[in-house]
Order: sequence, then C-alpha cells, then structure tokens
Amino acid sequence: MDLDAWERDAIAALPAMVADYYAGGARSEGTLRANRSGWSRHALVHRILAGVREVRTAASFAGVRVAAPIVAAPTAFHRLAHPDGEVATARGVAAAGSAMVLSTLSTAAVEEVAAAAPGRVAFQLYVYRDRGATRALVERVRAAGCRALVLTADAAILGTRFRDVRNGFHLPPGLSLPNAAPEGRTMDGDGSGSVLARYVADQLDPSLGWGDLEAFLADAGLPVWIKGVVHPEDAARAAAMGVAGIVVSNHGGRQLDAGIATADALPRVVDAVAGRCPVWVDGGVRRGTDVCVALALGADGVLLGRPVLWGLALEGADGVRQVLELLRAELVEALTLIGVSDHRTLDRGCLG
Ligand SMILES: Cc1cc2nc3c(=O)[nH]c(=O)nc-3n(C[C@H](O)[C@H](O)[C@H](O)COP(=O)(O)O)c2cc1C
Repeated sequence: MDLDAWERDAIAALPAMVADYYAGGARSEGTLRANRSGWSRHALVHRILAGVREVRTAASFAGVRVAAPIVAAPTAFHRLAHPDGEVATARGVAAAGSAMVLSTLSTAAVEEVAAAAPGRVAFQLYVYRDRGATRALVERVRAAGCRALVLTADAAILGTRFRDVRNGFHLPPGLSLPNAAPEGRTMDGDGSGSVLARYVADQLDPSLGWGDLEAFLADAGLPVWIKGVVHPEDAARAAAMGVAGIVVSNHGGRQLDAGIATADALPRVVDAVAGRCPVWVDGGVRRGTDVCVALALGADGVLLGRPVLWGLALEGADGVRQVLELLRAELVEALTLIGVSDHRTLDRGCLG
C-alpha cells in the first residue's frame, strides 16, 4: 500500500463535498498537477558499494526532534475527516515521532491540540483584518506551548476552487472554528458558492505586507516561519529579516493556478537563503523518493498535506501514524538503495 492507495480509499469513503475540498486545487488545477510531476522530473543516481548498514533519518523541525524530515502541513477542518479532528491528528503525529503545524482554521482549539502532542505543535497563522483578534490568537498560541508561528503569506484571497463553488462548500452544523475570528465561528451552507471563500474575503487581511512580518518577528514572542514562498528574492528578504524558517509552498496548488511547481522553486530558494535558516517544502510529496529529491535539492525536510487527511479519514489517529511511518519507511528504502546512510548528505550530485 502506498500513499496513492490511501488517497483512493479515502476519497471513496468521504462525502463528495469533503473529498473535493481536500483533494481539489485552484481553477484548472494546473499547479496541483505540476507539484506532483515536479518531483518525478528529477532522477536519482545511486552509488554502489556504499556499505550502508543503517540509515539515519532523524531531523529537527522548529526545534522539535522528529523521526524523519517529514511533518504534517497545516490543513483546515480535520473534523470533516474524523470526529476527533485535529486532536486525533496530533496523537497520530506524536505516535510517529513527528510534528504538525496546526491551521488557524482548525475545528479543535489550539490548547486541546497542543496538549495531545506536547512540544510537537507549531501554529499556522492567518492574519485577520481585526488585528486585536489576531493578537489575542497569537497570545493563546504562545500560552498553549506551540513551538513556532508559521505565517502563511500566499493567501491574500482564496484561489477560486471550482469544486467548492459547485458543491457550496460549508461546514456541517456542529462544527465551528474555535481558534478563528470571530471566535467559535460556524460556516453554515447557504447554497450559493463556497462559504469558505466568503469567510476568507470578509475576515482575512489581503493587504498583509513586509511590515507585518517585521512586526510579528518583533512581537510574537515565538520563532516566526514564513510559508508560501516560491520567489528567491522573497526568500532572501525574509531570511535577512530573521525568520526562523521558510516553507516553500504554493498551498498545495489551491491558490494561484499556473503556478510554479515547488520542486522547481525549491533550489532557487535554497540558493538565495544560503543557509541562513532552514528551508522546508511541501506540495505533491507522495513517495520516499520525492522526499529524497527534495532533500537533494537542498530542503531540510518536507511537509505533508493531503495524505495526513487520508490517514485521518480512514483510520483516525492511527491512520495518521501509519501514513507518516509509511513515508519514512519508503525514505529509508530509497536512501539505502541510493547508498546514503544519513539523509543530510544528499545533495544535487545525487540527481541525474
Ligand atoms: C484541505 C487543505 C486545507 C489546507 N488548509 C491550509 C490552511 O489552513 N493553512 C495553510 O497555510 N495551508 C493550508 N493548506 C495547504 C497545506 O498547508 C500545504 O501547503 C499543502 O497541502 C501541501 O501540498 P500536499 O497536500 O500536496 O502535500 C491546505 C491544504 C489542503 C489540501
């Protein structure tokens, strides 16, 4: 069973509105497809007689020791996949020795999720027009013991997702957003397009700028990462300002259509950052060999979006654990066959 099989089974098991929301991308879904094919355009070149006895995959993400350079990306609304939602995700992540970035748009409170995986949770921040509400949220995140704030910077507005528009995407009664402004907000359907798109347009601040990043770096009281970077000049500027880390991401192909694949953006970002902070990447990573390509291109690790949701949907916390451990096992196999005993020694020389 590989992650494609988890995807197939989860999509078959979930209600169509939820499966479409999780699986879909913006407009023609060109960026979504480009992310997947971006990794497979690179070929790995193995070495022989490398004497690999044991492979080391341990890594560090936002100050957390993790079993592999693979952590859970922030994704919204986990209670659509499983009644225990993000709390189950956190338990699965902890069981796999991994870490997670909790979405602002989670269906469980940050305090509850952080307690389910102590020391293994970072928080993804969307910045609200109501800056008082944003400050209050950051205060809660800090008090809950999250390791870092991950500021998502590629969602000034929501990219148009035709599947969600068609389905009138909304949250079923009983689900709310305990972290989001206004607190405990629900998202009932009204039969006219994506309720999420309207929520984002009404509530989030599309005018987010570099000055805001500077303010978060000064005031957050937590290490600040920036997510959604694909341009090397943005990466260099953020690194110079002192971000704790960069996530190369195009939001899993859900924002700008016809966008650059993250596999293509990654090496340019790595070069621009020049070691000043860690660079992680997400988007279409589905195989251990994809992880190897990302690491060889200079990433410190990868984040996994949709596959975590597939694991959660099919088997709750244990499904999340299985998905993360499956990818780690694939990584170990690939590293062994490449002839590398430590993932940190992969470099561009391993690519054809
Ligand atoms: C269903 C879903 C919801 C998402 N919600 C968020 C979110 O709330 N905040 C955020 O920064 N990124 C969000 N993302 C983007 C992910 O963090 C990540 O960039 C992307 O899923 C990685 O691509 P992959 O799903 O191909 O692994 C979401 C992605 C998906 C699929």
